[in-house]
Amino acid sequence: MGRSPDKDQRLHWDETYKMEDFFGPKASLFAEKSLEIFKNEGIEVLLELGCGQGRDTWLFARNGISVYAMDYSDQGICQMREKAREHGLDKLITLKVRDVRRGIPLPNDSIDAIYSHMFFNMEFLENEMSMIFQECLRVLRPGGLNIYSVRSENDPHYQKFTHLDEDMYQNPMGFAVHFFTEEKIERLADGFLIDSITEFEDPDPPFTKMLYDVVLRKPMQ
Ligand SMILES: C[S@@+](CC[C@H](N)C(=O)[O-])C[C@H]1O[C@@H](n2cnc3c(N)ncnc32)[C@H](O)[C@@H]1O
Repeated sequence: MGRSPDKDQRLHWDETYKMEDFFGPKASLFAEKSLEIFKNEGIEVLLELGCGQGRDTWLFARNGISVYAMDYSDQGICQMREKAREHGLDKLITLKVRDVRRGIPLPNDSIDAIYSHMFFNMEFLENEMSMIFQECLRVLRPGGLNIYSVRSENDPHYQKFTHLDEDMYQNPMGFAVHFFTEEKIERLADGFLIDSITEFEDPDPPFTKMLYDVVLRKPMQ
């Protein structure tokens, strides 16, 4: 058993989201790129895990995609509920406060695609991630996509600061971050087909990160 982070991570995200647009006001580059794939694949119903304050959710909904957006931060989801109403996007966005370690409360084969940006690299042990990936497989329709980004082993913060467990470190901002290798991505893709694994630099605030961009697909049968 490793060490726990100094702060309860859910409460820490709640505190952090008292600041407006913590990751910046615009949608991420990763969301812009993923949107092109969603358009090409005719994606109509999307599940977003760890939606935060919704910067990417707005982009997808504004492009006509119905989004189920989940996060365990009440603060983030409450802000999003208000903004969705203000911007007339509440018909397209279904919000849920949910710790995804408890499973994904959606029926089998009901979702065209799953999107998450820097969600799987949070405070999860690998066996918890495996369980969530199997839940993703269950709720996706055959041929559906699971597109995600995670911090890579080439990230400047890898193996820096306080070691917690496995490849997880607590950064100076008090967040637990789990770093990924390509081997880990392949292990977690059990049951999926791997369309692509690409590394990229993400310049968004609060600091530049190295991320893997992963595209997985549920087999047709
Ligand atoms: C690095 S932030 C990214 C937020 C958002 N995807 C973005 O890029 O703006 C990770 C998010 O995952 C959420 N999160 C972490 N662990 C979670 C869990 N077990 N269940 C649900 N959400 C979780 C946090 O509350 C936070 O909003």
